[in-house]
Amino acid sequence: MTLLSSLLTRRSTPIKDIGGDAPTPDQIQTILTAASRVPDHNKLCPWWFVVFEGEARVKFGAVLSAAFARENPDAAPAKLELESERFTRAPLIIAVISRIKRGKAPAWEQMLSSGAACYILCLAANALGYATNWLTEWPAYNEDVRKALGCDDRDNIAGFIYIGQQLQKPEDRPRPALSDIVTPWVDRYTPQKGESHEKADLSLPLAGFRLCSDK
Ligand SMILES: Cc1cc2nc3c(=O)[nH]c(=O)nc-3n(C[C@H](O)[C@H](O)[C@H](O)COP(=O)(O)O)c2cc1C
Repeated sequence: MTLLSSLLTRRSTPIKDIGGDAPTPDQIQTILTAASRVPDHNKLCPWWFVVFEGEARVKFGAVLSAAFARENPDAAPAKLELESERFTRAPLIIAVISRIKRGKAPAWEQMLSSGAACYILCLAANALGYATNWLTEWPAYNEDVRKALGCDDRDNIAGFIYIGQQLQKPEDRPRPALSDIVTPWVDRYTPQKGESHEKADLSLPLAGFRLCSDK
């Protein structure tokens, strides 16, 4: 598949349909190398990666269930057990941590670069024939999980990239019409802001970042 046809047809695979074998060590190196080449204003390298494979996914389960228990003191033992298995849902998980560095590039641009790293991890793994899903879920915003990963105040977890073999091909989902989101600049400019896709019940501040400590 060419890069363009892959971009035009790509889909995330639901986590329940990811399984089988992890990429080989060489393939993991390739995937990470591709991600390390994303655009990066001022060459600040504003991201780092944590690789969970094999037993590491199982061992990290103790961190996940303890963190969940602290956040949800009434959680049933069965739910904690389930949380301990969260990272075993795929054979390989790569955490992408956005680290804001001192430099000329604004923090926002450094975060964007981390998003690009997440996406390239997905695309590179897809190019090698693996299914992917970019998830944050509660662990990305949990202080105990952040600590266990070595995050400090400069860091945000940009995503956990779940990678494995595709057990079932997902159907495509509706995509926005370009006419809703693309506007040519003309004298009588009318922006197309994709508002038909905005969920009415979301009242996120448009100009704010969700900080790790926020819920
Ligand atoms: C930063 C980020 C975080 C995401 N976190 C979640 C998540 O926690 N749970 C979820 O169901 N989807 C999450 N998604 C969405 C999936 O990655 C995926 O895009 C979605 O299932 C739609 O599939 P598609 O990529 O084929 O369009 C996230 C996407 C992004 C960009």
